[in-house]
Amino acid sequence: MTENVSAPGSSTPATTMPAWLQHSYGGPEVVVSDQLPVPTPGATDLLVRVRACGIHAGDVRLMRGDPYLVRLAFGIRRPRARTRGMDVAGTVVAVGPGVTGFRIDDEVVAEIGVGGGLAEYAIMPAARAVARPADVSAQLAAALPVSGGTAVQALDAAHVASGSRVLVIGAAGGVGTFTVQLAAQRGAEVWALAGERALDLVADLGAGHAFDYTRVQPGSPELPAGSFDAVIDIAGTAPLTELQGLLRDGGTVVLVSGAGGKILGPMGRMLKAVFLSRRRRRIRPLAAAAKTEILTQLVELTAQSSIRPVIEQTYPFDAARDALAHVDAGHAVGKVVVTVE
Ligand SMILES: NC(=O)c1ccc[n+]([C@@H]2O[C@H](COP(=O)([O-])OP(=O)(O)OC[C@H]3O[C@@H](n4cnc5c(N)ncnc54)[C@H](OP(=O)(O)O)[C@@H]3O)[C@@H](O)[C@H]2O)c1
Repeated sequence: MTENVSAPGSSTPATTMPAWLQHSYGGPEVVVSDQLPVPTPGATDLLVRVRACGIHAGDVRLMRGDPYLVRLAFGIRRPRARTRGMDVAGTVVAVGPGVTGFRIDDEVVAEIGVGGGLAEYAIMPAARAVARPADVSAQLAAALPVSGGTAVQALDAAHVASGSRVLVIGAAGGVGTFTVQLAAQRGAEVWALAGERALDLVADLGAGHAFDYTRVQPGSPELPAGSFDAVIDIAGTAPLTELQGLLRDGGTVVLVSGAGGKILGPMGRMLKAVFLSRRRRRIRPLAAAAKTEILTQLVELTAQSSIRPVIEQTYPFDAARDALAHVDAGHAVGKVVVTVE
């Protein structure tokens, strides 16, 4: 049954809530603070009191409607979902009548869809929710879903296992810091390209070889051609033939990201990859999806301290626009999280 939602510290049911929303596509300046009705959960949804919301590159792509292609799916003139924030950790305050397995007061985390997390309350499909144990803080949990999930799916797509030699390009960002740790955890030999200020960090996360990407690129002698089992390209700028040249026979390049024009974005690069891909030197574009079994595994690894989400900065709810601007600038080291206390 759906329950009334009490405003924190009060017994009065809350009908409106503070939220950040946008009425047009654009930079962080189009995101404004306002009041919205508290959403009503559908039959298979949870309503959660948001505790923390992780921000990632996908949030700012949606905020900007960049590339224009995304507007076909999310709204031509303005985003249909006006509140950003996909990675949510929160407390269940109401459950839909068809929900089993979750109750009011449960602590949960999920990738909730295209947005809604930068608000006091958010709808979370119960099928996506994962229980958050007490020893994983809401901030750490909110850092996990999209970035950690993408890292796992990229490593799986490249069949990274014990003994694999893997190069992670873009190792210091949200996705990269998870990719390095999870590859090392699988027993892979990890090489990394990152910004100079993050080289010590990526080495600490498990990269045995770390290079400044402004000095060393695919094709540079420091990266031995024909020697990698896997290349995980999260930066998306290197020529595909250079990436492919790094592979040994049977190896795989996984394209997590790709630079491109304002209209089609990375689509051109992804299509070119399909033509260049060879049975013995594959190039695979990745479209990561929300998977609860992966998020469950990431939460467990975090609880065991087997991985540690790297959080560069935590912003209070009132400064959520600054968190979006931080990620929008493209220089995050690890994750950016907004707390909604
Ligand atoms: N395919 C999918 O399903 C999927 C899923 C999630 C994310 N993505 C995409 O993956 C990309 C990365 O996401 P993210 O959240 O990790 O981004 P992010 O956190 O914003 O990454 C920023 C980091 O990348 C570094 N960087 C920039 N250019 C680089 C280069 N050429 N080589 C090495 N490092 C470089 C920056 O270093 P400096 O500050 O030193 O420049 C910074 O540390 C985004 O385009 C996102 O849309 C795709």
